[in-house]
Amino acid sequence: MLQSTTIDVEKIREDFPILQRRLKGGHKLIYLDNAATTQKPRAVIDSISNYYMNYNSNIHRAVHQLAEEATFAYEEVRRKVAKLINAKSADEIIFTRNATESINLVAKCWARQHLSKRNSVLITEIEHHSNIVPWQLVTGEVGASLDYLNIGEEGRIDIEDFSQKVNDPDLKLVSISQMSNVLGTILPVKKMTKLAHEKNVPMMIDAAQSVPHMKVDVQDLDCDFMAFSAHKMLGPTGVGILYAKREILEEMPPFIGGGDMIKEVHKQTTSFNDLPYKFEAGTPNIADVIGFGAAIDYLNTLGFENIREHEMQITEYALERMNELQGITIYGPKVTKERGAVISFNLGDIHPHDLATILNDFGIAMRSGHHCAQVLMERLDVSATSRVSFYVYNSKDEVNILIDALQSARRLFGL
Ligand SMILES: Cc1ncc(COP(=O)(O)O)c(C=O)c1O
Repeated sequence: MLQSTTIDVEKIREDFPILQRRLKGGHKLIYLDNAATTQKPRAVIDSISNYYMNYNSNIHRAVHQLAEEATFAYEEVRRKVAKLINAKSADEIIFTRNATESINLVAKCWARQHLSKRNSVLITEIEHHSNIVPWQLVTGEVGASLDYLNIGEEGRIDIEDFSQKVNDPDLKLVSISQMSNVLGTILPVKKMTKLAHEKNVPMMIDAAQSVPHMKVDVQDLDCDFMAFSAHKMLGPTGVGILYAKREILEEMPPFIGGGDMIKEVHKQTTSFNDLPYKFEAGTPNIADVIGFGAAIDYLNTLGFENIREHEMQITEYALERMNELQGITIYGPKVTKERGAVISFNLGDIHPHDLATILNDFGIAMRSGHHCAQVLMERLDVSATSRVSFYVYNSKDEVNILIDALQSARRLFGL
């Protein structure tokens, strides 16, 4: 059995009930759609049911024991998230529904205040729709412009081009993803933040694909905002994270109004709660935030350096094996160190949806389509790609089964 040196995949797989599942035809599930969402270990599932079975209660308000326990558990996860990304304090962590909502929060509460007609927001051609559409909406609303940093071969940006673009005195915000969900390209966000800050331009990082897979330190990066989702890192769906520097959050108006985000409400006026509650109106997703805490514990036990090392090994192996296939086009960086565990490709002229359907018959869950990155698809001059993406429970044996299935597809299509 082929094994990674840093992570015991077989042992990890035992923690994931879904990976024991057999699909139609008796196939073992080979889950290679981790960039979309990841599977959940038993520890996460158990922590959610433990909350509902033993201390289900609303948080922050009541003084009874259940409320105290639920409040403590929920706030403990905020502290864990702060530690995970090395935020200065837990007050800088806002829970939202997903990374998309976190980016929209910044667009609505920060950008709307700071942008006027002559201003612009800068993003890249590599972005997920979540880091494009909110900026289109807010720039459209105020009459500002949305500018793009072109990407080169393999999805890299030209840092010279970036330093030229941040020189624009009307530029008000840069928002970029740290790791592409299509190409896997890792962007030099620390360097970019430094260059942006030299021109007093704040930096937002879409870390939906990076925080789950590598050590990310917001103080080291010095970014002003960061967004990511729990469900892409073994946690439940329905929990997003927005990090922002305290002084920025202090001056930002609230996102939505309602209970818990207030200090006092009178007939005509309201004073708002302290951070982070000012941005969390109404009953939050208590159970899933608690489940996210168990996911963070699980990942910390594995260690982010080990996770990254394992993913680099499996990606390198997959790239090597996939390159053996005649007629394959692989997108993104050739050097594993410069990419995450995401591989987009096309096989001859087989449509990605057809390929995904064939692979499904082998028990392989793989993604096909535009991956919510139509601007990037236009840049690559393709309408769709196939995409495999790995995580801690994927093995080189699974890569071998993927290659066999791709070979079968080639034969079926007479390639
Ligand atoms: C780079 C990137 N940004 C943002 C998102 C949006 O995440 P969510 O759907 O959890 O809001 C995704 C999801 O695939 C992503 O890959």
